[in-house]
Amino acid sequence: MKGLAALVLLQAAGLSQAALRFACSRVSIQRLDPLVEPGRIPSAHVHQIVGGNAFNATMAGDIGEQATCTTCAYTEDLSNYWTAVMYFRHANGSYKRVPQYANAQLGTEGKDAPNIQGGMTVYYTQKDFNTNGNKFIRAFPPGFRMTVGSPAASSADYAKGHPGLRYTCLQTILTRGSETADFPAKPCPAGIMAIHHFPACWDGKNVDSPDHQAHMYSTTRGGFAEAGECPTSHPVRVAQVAYETMWNTTAFAGMWPADGRQPFVWSFEGNGYGTHADYLFGWKGDSLQRAMNSTCMFHACGSPGVQGVLKTQTVDEMNRCAVKPTVVEETDGWLDALPGQAEPAMGHMPMRV
Ligand SMILES: *[C@@H]1O[C@H](CO)[C@@H](O)[C@H](O)[C@H]1NC(C)=O
Ligand SMILES: *[C@@H]1O[C@H](CO)[C@@H](O)[C@H](O)[C@H]1NC(C)=O
Ligand SMILES: *[C@@H]1O[C@H](CO)[C@@H](O)[C@H](O)[C@H]1NC(C)=O
Ligand SMILES: *[C@@H]1O[C@H](CO)[C@@H](O)[C@H](O)[C@H]1NC(C)=O
Repeated sequence: MKGLAALVLLQAAGLSQAALRFACSRVSIQRLDPLVEPGRIPSAHVHQIVGGNAFNATMAGDIGEQATCTTCAYTEDLSNYWTAVMYFRHANGSYKRVPQYANAQLGTEGKDAPNIQGGMTVYYTQKDFNTNGNKFIRAFPPGFRMTVGSPAASSADYAKGHPGLRYTCLQTILTRGSETADFPAKPCPAGIMAIHHFPACWDGKNVDSPDHQAHMYSTTRGGFAEAGECPTSHPVRVAQVAYETMWNTTAFAGMWPADGRQPFVWSFEGNGYGTHADYLFGWKGDSLQRAMNSTCMFHACGSPGVQGVLKTQTVDEMNRCAVKPTVVEETDGWLDALPGQAEPAMGHMPMRV
């Protein structure tokens, strides 16, 4: 009896069911990549970045101690999150950046969503939304970074091995599910949601690896389904990070090429299978662990207007945080070529593998 009571107490203390979902508005749209191409100004392709204002060409050390504001709803989250940018390629050869909008489920129960400047929805879940699978869920250590996916990928075979990298053709701004591995083949009435689930099994030692992926292992099944067990090579279950990005393709519906060719490309000139995302941990102190130790879910963890285990800020405060651009160039407007992609092939354009 005594033993059982102690076990129950231990589980109550060590195990939990927290699930974070929050908005981060845009902090920058720029050709910089401190993770894959540190120090390179400009980097190979355009990114949309959210999170802390420490974002720059080179980032080292504890980011939680370097940034002074964040575009994310939780003030202690000074991490940076980024993906490539989606462009529309007109039949006449010109490109235009696809605008973004915020997840309509965010803000104070959706109320503030229209005021959030693009950006993305960030998730930190456990084994799934409802359980940690009886495993302690660790926060990442300072300096931690990782990528998922690859701009060099271009085939359905690659996508088969990466069920966490998908798209949803939005019938309305609230459509979920019905995921595809490549860009949807037809115009989508409310745009395209790009989904990135990162791996959540860590080797427990390295905050990075040469390809930015080998220190992690994915047992993600996609679609927020329950993840599989971590292997002995990567035994430490960390928070399951995922991004959702809403790309408003509606302005291009009337310009879809007559031959039905896919008009959307990522900013590295790649097709939908080359989708990838970058993560640079920067939660202040033990704030992410505090959240992972709790049992709060979504808004109850503390979103603008709702106080919880995490400190929050308003959408106006989120939108005010910005990074002074290091690379200044036109990324919007109608462009003859994608930024960084028009240069003659010199055989040394760095590519992630
Ligand atoms: C989280 O829980 C673990 C295990 O119970 C505990 O050792 C740690 O101090 C907790 N951390 C925080 C920040 O609450
Ligand atoms: C970013 O790095 C560049 C080059 O090192 C530097 O000139 C610039 O001031 C930095 N920007 C910010 C906002 O810190
Ligand atoms: C292609 O079409 C767009 C939209 O009409 C236009 O703005 C752009 O200038 C055109 N580009 C060329 C090269 O004609
Ligand atoms: C998407 O863009 C269209 C213009 O093309 C605009 O009318 C609409 O409000 C935008 N949708 C959202 C959710 O921002």
